[in-house]
Amino acid sequence: DGVVRVGLLGCGTVGSQVVRLLREHGDDWAARSGAHLELVGIAVRDTAAERDPWVPRDLLTDDAEGLVGRADVVIELIGGIEPARTLVLRALRSGATVVTGNKALLAAHGPELHAAAEAGDADLYYEAAVAGAVPVVYGLRESLAGDKITAVLGIVNGTTNYILDEMATRGLSFDQALSQAQELGYAEADPTADVDGHDAAAKAAILASLAFHTRVGIDDVPVTGIRHITAEDMAEARETGHVMKLLAVARRTVSGGTEGISVRVHPALVPAAHPLAAVHGAFNAVVVESESAGRLMFYGQGAGGAPTASAVLSDVVAAANHKVHGGHAPRESTYAELPLHGPDAT
Ligand code: NDP
Ligand code: HSE
Repeated sequence: DGVVRVGLLGCGTVGSQVVRLLREHGDDWAARSGAHLELVGIAVRDTAAERDPWVPRDLLTDDAEGLVGRADVVIELIGGIEPARTLVLRALRSGATVVTGNKALLAAHGPELHAAAEAGDADLYYEAAVAGAVPVVYGLRESLAGDKITAVLGIVNGTTNYILDEMATRGLSFDQALSQAQELGYAEADPTADVDGHDAAAKAAILASLAFHTRVGIDDVPVTGIRHITAEDMAEARETGHVMKLLAVARRTVSGGTEGISVRVHPALVPAAHPLAAVHGAFNAVVVESESAGRLMFYGQGAGGAPTASAVLSDVVAAANHKVHGGHAPRESTYAELPLHGPDAT
């Protein structure tokens, strides 16, 4: 009948914007695709809490598990590992499509999620998990599927880029800039994940897995965050013609004659003339290097409710099209084992 039942898990910064976009644009998508998206429930922790005015209160429920059981497409925007992991696994094993922005979950349990998708003949979409609105997951998974990627690197955390930018350009203290990033909806529920680099490490693991068709987990990524960076460090960077950025870097490498990969996250001094130096605020930029296409750069808003909801909805529309007209997201259940090399590898 062309009706696709959508269950939303989580209605915070991103989830609420997903509800808004579904209500504002749902009819246009239906007209274009023949798939009518019906929001059948919104699972939250506290059904009595105040919500944005466009959130229909009659759809709120605290029974996330029950909602998973009656949706064709489950959008997971709770965050963290549990109960998100259990809910996503249940959905995938039952054949529902899952759309998630949960990089922490993907980077900790990716192989288990992909295996569950395979077992349930289900699809797993996660454009929103890396770089907010920027379509870098699609770029790696689909646009560059015919090429050999040699490196993926860039700025993948909006909160830390915002903090470093505000410290450098407006002289804000670290704490002032962090609390602004929290107010603007860029930071994780626990902002330690941002400032200590774990959020960027999760995204680096996801990007490396996609780019090199292998499995990299968050524990494989050595990480240094930005907590220790001072105003004096920023001034010194500026005097030498540099800008301080938190970079995620994943490369194919050779060490001792063996091909492998190296993945890491660390602050770096970027020359002021480099395109990454011009990435301001909560914007992200990912440079991809490949054998045939050469160098590409993906750039845009890397955090925040509306930009991230845009990425979520792109996945929902793809999922709805597949539900109604057939087809699948690319399968990721088979992959190569590539050794992880240290900093000495070239
Ligand atoms: P929020 O903390 O703003 O929202 C989380 C939502 O999940 C809330 O509505 C909360 O309910 C609900 N929730 C929490 N625990 C449960 C539970 N046990 N059962 C049901 N619902 C629950 O998070 P964000 O919207 O910022 O982030 C959501 C996800 O998107 C995370 O994985 C995050 O990493 C990712 N993401 C976020 C971006 C951003 O810029 N904010 C960008 C890209 C990805 P209640 O409202 O009742 O508290
Ligand atoms: N906290 C994350 C960031 C949200 O600041 O980049 C987007 O993934």
